[in-house]
Amino acid sequence: MKILVTGGLGYIGSHTAIELSKDYETVIVDNLINSNISTLKGINKIGFSKIIFEKLDLCNLNDVKSLFKKHPNIEGVIHFAALKNVSESVKDPLSYYQNNIISLLNLLSEINERKMKINFIFSSSCAVYGQSENLPISENEIKKPALSPYGNTKQICEDILTDFSKINSKFNVVSLRYFNPIGAHESGEIGELPKEEPQNLVPYITQSAAKIRGKLTIFGNNYNTPDGTCIRDYIHVVDLAKAHTCALNYLLDNKGVNNEFFNIGTGKGNSVLEIINSFEKVTGKKVVYKIGPRRPGDITAAYADNEKALKYLHWKPNYSLEDALLSAWNWEKNYRKT
Ligand code: NAD
Ligand code: WQD
Repeated sequence: MKILVTGGLGYIGSHTAIELSKDYETVIVDNLINSNISTLKGINKIGFSKIIFEKLDLCNLNDVKSLFKKHPNIEGVIHFAALKNVSESVKDPLSYYQNNIISLLNLLSEINERKMKINFIFSSSCAVYGQSENLPISENEIKKPALSPYGNTKQICEDILTDFSKINSKFNVVSLRYFNPIGAHESGEIGELPKEEPQNLVPYITQSAAKIRGKLTIFGNNYNTPDGTCIRDYIHVVDLAKAHTCALNYLLDNKGVNNEFFNIGTGKGNSVLEIINSFEKVTGKKVVYKIGPRRPGDITAAYADNEKALKYLHWKPNYSLEDALLSAWNWEKNYRKT
C-alpha cells in the first residue's frame, strides 16, 4: 500500500516516514520551506525501505495534479505540510491562511476529482482548544476562538475535512491533535531542525546547551502553578510518529469515519523548570537561563486527556520525558559535529 506523507522532511513527518517504511511504500512531498534536504539522507539511512521524495509546493495545483498522476495508487495521506510558527502567524496571517488552507484544498480537490478512495490523517494541534480551562483537555472540549491565525488554520482545516468527508463516502479521516512533541530518533540521524531561532522550549534548550544560542529566557515564573512556570504535555516524537501508524490501522479497520478527533499526548504535565531540571540531570549539561516576562498568548497549563487514543487507536506512549530529552540532546550533538 502506498502512503503519501506531505511535509515529510519536517520534524514530525520525517519520524513518521521511518515508522511507515516498515510496512508501507512511502512517498514524501515537501517544498523545503521549513526543512533541509539533508534530512532525506538521514531518512534513507535509517528507513526500513526506500522512501520516494518529490519536491513540490502543495499550493501549486498543477504540481498536486502531477503528483497524483505519477502515483495514482496512493491509498493513504498523512498531511503534515503546514507553516507552524505561532508568533510569525500573528505578524503575517495571510501567508498562514494561504499556505495551510490552500495546500489542504488542493489535495482534497484532486482526491475528489480522481474519485480516490483515501484514508486521510490530518496533523492538528492542541492549539484548536484555545484558552481551555479544563484539565486534562478532552476532545469534547468546546472549541474556543484560536489564540493565533496559526491555531485558526487548524480549526478551519478540521472543519473543511469534516464537511468533505460527509459528502464523500470514500474519504475516511481522522485529525490527530498533538500536544508538545519533543525529542528525536534514537539513531541521532534525524531530529528537530528549526531553520530560524527556535520558538519552542526544547530546541532552544538544546541549542543553548550546544552554545549556538545564548541564555534561555523563561517566559514568566508568576503563573498559578506549583513553581510558577507554565505546564505542558511533552510527548516523544517517536511515540507521536507511532500514533500515525495506529491511526492508519484504525482507518483501515473502520469505514465511514467522518473526521474523528484524537488527542496525542502523554496525559501528564510538566513545568518549564521541570524540563530544565530533567534535561540537566540526564545530560549533565547546565542550562543557563534568566526569567523574562510572560510570552503573549501563553496559557498557564495544558495537558491531554489521551484516553480516547489509548482505547480506539490501541496506541500508548512508551518513552519517558527523560528518554525524550536525552534523545533531543544526542541529536543536537550529532548534528553539530557533522
Ligand atoms: P515542520 O515545519 O518541521 O514540517 C512541516 C513540513 O512541511 C516542512 O518540511 C515544510 O517544508 C513543509 N511544507 C510546508 N508548507 C508546504 C507546502 N505548501 N508544500 C509542501 N511542503 C510544505 O513542522 P512539524 O513540527 O513537523 O509539524 C508537522 C505538522 O504538525 C504541522 O501541520 C504542524 O502544524 C503540526 N503540529 C506541530 C506541532 C509541533 O509542536 N511541532 C504541534 C502540533 C501540530
Ligand atoms: C512551551 C513552554 C513557553 C520557549 C506551541 C504552539 C502550539 C503547538 C505546540 C503547534 C511555554 C515556555 C518556550 C522559550 C520558554 N504547536 N518557553 N522559553 O507554546 O506550548 O505550544 O507548540 O501546533 O500550537 O503554541 O510550546 O515549546 O513554545 O513552549 O519559557 O524560549 O515553554 O512559555 O510555557 P507551546 P513551546
